[in-house]
Amino acid sequence: MSKNVLVIGTGTIGEPLIGLLAEHKNSLGLDNVIFFKRTPLSDERGKVEALLRKGANIVSTSDALSEFTKLGFSNVYDVEKAYEEADVIIDCTPSGNDNWDKVYSSLNQDKRFMAQGSEHGFGSFFAWGINNEVLENEDNKFLIASCNTHNIASIVKAFSLDQGRELTEGRFVCLRRANDVSQNDSFSPSPTVTKHTNQEFGTHHARDVHELFAQEGKKLNLFSSAIKLPTQYMHTLWFTLSFKEHIKHDDVMRNLQDSEFLMATEKMSSNKVFSFGRDHGYHGRLLSHGIVAEQSLHVKENTLTGYCFTPQDGNALLSSVAATVQYYYKDDWKEKMDVFNRYIFKNI
Ligand SMILES: NC(=O)c1ccc[n+]([C@@H]2O[C@H](COP(=O)([O-])OP(=O)(O)OC[C@H]3O[C@@H](n4cnc5c(N)ncnc54)[C@H](OP(=O)(O)O)[C@@H]3O)[C@@H](O)[C@H]2O)c1
Repeated sequence: MSKNVLVIGTGTIGEPLIGLLAEHKNSLGLDNVIFFKRTPLSDERGKVEALLRKGANIVSTSDALSEFTKLGFSNVYDVEKAYEEADVIIDCTPSGNDNWDKVYSSLNQDKRFMAQGSEHGFGSFFAWGINNEVLENEDNKFLIASCNTHNIASIVKAFSLDQGRELTEGRFVCLRRANDVSQNDSFSPSPTVTKHTNQEFGTHHARDVHELFAQEGKKLNLFSSAIKLPTQYMHTLWFTLSFKEHIKHDDVMRNLQDSEFLMATEKMSSNKVFSFGRDHGYHGRLLSHGIVAEQSLHVKENTLTGYCFTPQDGNALLSSVAATVQYYYKDDWKEKMDVFNRYIFKNI
């Protein structure tokens, strides 16, 4: 039986994910990586060409096939065939829940379905290295945690849960980039605050992390705020964690170095960190969950405060890959994920 993976969408998340899967498919034990490009756009010809060169195959809806032929792509197949043949379907669109209702729910339910961060309610939250156990559930639907969920959850895990330090309160401000470097829409001319629409958690960011850990029975006291800034580089997270006991700065620095999913940096600006990702990341992206500005870490009695840069266009990618590989290789999926260690840095 062929191991076929279908990625829906070729945007900020879909494009590098298709590349990661296709370029590493032999190491990951996958046979075919297929992507659904919905709209035949002449200005996106180069992107499609690049993904085909990486070894992926393209599909689209039957009514778009002739347009793709006109653009020079003759080997585009009908997505309906791919829906049948794929065992894992990774939705990377802002319409994962709609696509579930319209398409995925009527497919064979032995497949594994994933959607990305904004599709709250799609399935159980999953973040690679944070809650790997959830993949052992019988579920066939997983919600890949958003970029901010990956970052906040990593901070909580590295400095509290992994250390057995009781967290009395975690507060976060997500300082968000206005839009991605690949996007024209939604740029913000000035700092623009987000409403606190959630009475308990402030914004959905703390709610999502709360829900992620609640899946394993941990009920954390978290609160978040968010503000959009006029930058395209990357999100930055301000955090303050209060513990039951006093903590020491030296211990915190050690915890940071021990964390598998957080990087440390002496850089103090997001453009410097982003630039490192452009030069040394995969598809220009950093794949770690967060990059802590180590000189920002401040300890006072029982409280740790600091900043962490969030690679919003990169840190969720390996979670989609991990949930794909685990579907096929229950025993050695983690070893197969080692192929990505070359993209993970400890200090940048
Ligand atoms: N951007 C980030 O940093 C980031 C980080 C973490 C999670 N996410 C989440 O990832 C998801 C995708 O975000 P994105 O930033 O990658 O979006 P994006 O750059 O706007 O790309 C969206 C892609 O989805 C395709 N698409 C949209 N609706 C579709 C449909 N109904 N059927 C098939 N294809 C469809 C579009 O294809 P065509 O152009 O061919 O029509 C496009 O390739 C969202 O849920 C978002 O919240 C984004």
